[in-house]
Amino acid sequence: MNIHTYEKIWLVAALLLIVGFIATITYGSVGLGIAMIDDSEETIEPSELSEDERFSEPRVEQVGENEYEAYVVARTFIFQPDPIEIPAGSEVTFYVTSPDVIHGFSVVGTNVNTMVIPGEVSTMTAEFDEAGEYGIVCNEYCGSGHHNMEGQIVVVPEDEFDMTELSVEAPDEVEPGNETEFEVTVENGQLEDLETTVALEIGNETFEEDVTVGGDDSETVTFTVDTADLGEGDHDWTVTVDDYEETGTLTVVDPDAENGDGGDGDE
Ligand code: CUA
Repeated sequence: MNIHTYEKIWLVAALLLIVGFIATITYGSVGLGIAMIDDSEETIEPSELSEDERFSEPRVEQVGENEYEAYVVARTFIFQPDPIEIPAGSEVTFYVTSPDVIHGFSVVGTNVNTMVIPGEVSTMTAEFDEAGEYGIVCNEYCGSGHHNMEGQIVVVPEDEFDMTELSVEAPDEVEPGNETEFEVTVENGQLEDLETTVALEIGNETFEEDVTVGGDDSETVTFTVDTADLGEGDHDWTVTVDDYEETGTLTVVDPDAENGDGGDGDE
């Protein structure tokens, strides 16, 4: 049988087209890594997120030099944490879940976009090279507040990023003539050591102590303040660590004098 040359060309071209179609479909469904959320991965009890190790406190964790994990909860009608703060030049893996209904988690201007299904944890990784702000929107209709459901990712310049937390425990009221203690706890959420100075200002006095807080650890510094030096009255105090500040007021009051119990007649 003799096949005409043109017919041969058309046959080959048609075959190539078919192979090409199959290749693009395969690439689109496998090569790009786009996947539906399914229950082949871990599942989670939506009503017990508050007891879940990862989602009870939505947060960002550092897991490697430039690697972070963000545990995000999408709920009617907010994203937590908000904003999600990460440093520039980092790779972030998002774990997103919902305690109530189906939401979306779509980072505007990026290809981060997933459904968030109660009971499932959606996972995706993205790199953020430059500082900037990205909006997060919910693109699954989830109820009356759906159109207002939005969050934010703030990519902070690398040298301005930290995961320091400061907390101060101090009494509100003390009697004069006692020593009182300020307990200052510095938490370092990053992996590398944090070298810093803790300072307490109260009255005319400043207390300072250098601390090194190990990675993913915390240190407590105790300052002892002599209330006899302060005298009676209200004393505002400020505790600072890097850019963080906590303030309060310490009242030094003599309980015996408070009620003016006799003896203090006018002049
Ligand atoms: Cu959440 Cu729409």
